[in-house]
Amino acid sequence: MNHTRRTGSILPGWLAGRAPGWQHRAGPRGSELAGENVADNRRVVVLASGNGSNLQALLDAGIDVVLVASDRPDAYALERARLAGVDTAVVRPADHPDRQAFDRALRDLVAAARPDAVCLAGFMRILGPEFVRAFPDRIVNTHPSLLPAFGGAHAVRDALAYGVRVSGCTVHLVDEQVDHGPVLFQAAVPVEDGDDEASLHERIKREEHRLLPVAVGLVAAGRVRTDGRRAWLTAEVPS
Ligand code: GRF
Repeated sequence: MNHTRRTGSILPGWLAGRAPGWQHRAGPRGSELAGENVADNRRVVVLASGNGSNLQALLDAGIDVVLVASDRPDAYALERARLAGVDTAVVRPADHPDRQAFDRALRDLVAAARPDAVCLAGFMRILGPEFVRAFPDRIVNTHPSLLPAFGGAHAVRDALAYGVRVSGCTVHLVDEQVDHGPVLFQAAVPVEDGDDEASLHERIKREEHRLLPVAVGLVAAGRVRTDGRRAWLTAEVPS
């Protein structure tokens, strides 16, 4: 039966509980959710600037990553990609006269890989409209706070400095504003006494690693619809 459910600010029960019909089984290529191949043969491009633990989560989930591109030649994410046999590319802002030119170069590189979804996995550059408009509702970002609280590059530090008792992560579609597009999934993470930026970020990343592959698989499979700020999931789901 076809069900249509809205993804929301709270992870739907069927997904939070990892209902059997939606569990990832790692495969050699392609993401396979038991019972149906949600993202099988769907092509995903990942942009990453740093360590790449979220990229690793995508690879481990069997998402078919066809290209990893970075703005930083020293990003460990590139090494992870090489180890997994995935093509890599570096597009450095310094090699382009302005931000628009950088955006265009990155857009053209990504478009040439013919992605079904583009995932920003710790990509620390703001993408301009020329990039975003090329992949409407197909770009997924993960951010280490419960948006709209603590957007920006220092979300974990800012949440700790504010003294919040709960933070978390937000996996969302990318629009032309920073840390702003429709929310796909969020997970709350408690702040513990004695947490510093590294320990809290590590705990938040565990949630990102769980949610990001599911979100990317669904977007790549064309199963996410939007209506303004709302994202809706159209999918075969267990009832
Ligand atoms: C993640 O916490 C992500 O939310 C933020 O940067 C971090 C990247 O971590 N934008 P990694 O490089 O995937 O380990």
